Amino acid sequence: MKKQTLQLELEPSLIGGDLGNAIETARKGVKAGARILHLDVMDGHFVPNLTIGPDIIGRIRESVHEDVILDVHLMIYNPDKYVEKYVEVGCQEITFHIEATEDVRFLIDYIKKCNCMPGIALKPESSVELIIPYLKDLDKILIMTVEPGFGGQSFMGDMLEKVRILSAYKKKYNFTYDVQVDGGINYDTGLESVKAGATRLVCGSFFYKQPDLKGAVEKFHSYREV
Ligand code: DX5
Ligand code: ZN
Repeated sequence: MKKQTLQLELEPSLIGGDLGNAIETARKGVKAGARILHLDVMDGHFVPNLTIGPDIIGRIRESVHEDVILDVHLMIYNPDKYVEKYVEVGCQEITFHIEATEDVRFLIDYIKKCNCMPGIALKPESSVELIIPYLKDLDKILIMTVEPGFGGQSFMGDMLEKVRILSAYKKKYNFTYDVQVDGGINYDTGLESVKAGATRLVCGSFFYKQPDLKGAVEKFHSYREV
């Protein structure tokens, strides 16, 4: 699959809205102008919370336009066992946490073989050094700006150093990955992240609280000019 994005994109995170009505929540994000939906999958082990799985995500796939990119963020152990299920239901981007698998190289190659785009996520305690050997093979690096597991937490500004480092590597070596920030994003922290080099902003609770969702997507996308 050819990489489609490089310009800044706002991704609504469905767990920030009404997850009991996930299809409607997905549609609201798309109607507001988002091209990518962020789907948080949790297993109750890797993180102390449970969310949605392939069945619901498959329903979301059927409910939004085929051009909408489904970006699945796996916060689960043994992600290799489940990749195929998310591919089958129509996800185009699959991100896993580096600590969740024993064979990172295998998993990157496997996701690519499935015609999907691989990403690696780093928890706040995980350093950038861990992913250096994989940078040229990744489509996305997800920097957690909160502890994974729950929406509605406060942004950890010191994570922006990782964004700066990865953005600098990208320029220096012509890498093609997006740098995504996830957790505590609002208009201010989103802008700070873009200035540090982020090209994907995941936004859950702040986004779905806005009275004008279309205006919110437009405001975040206006940071393309920064
Ligand atoms: C947390 C998830 C996030 C979460 C962000 O583990 O990865 O995607 O939805 O939510 P907010 O934007 O509310 O911090
Ligand atoms: Zn996420």
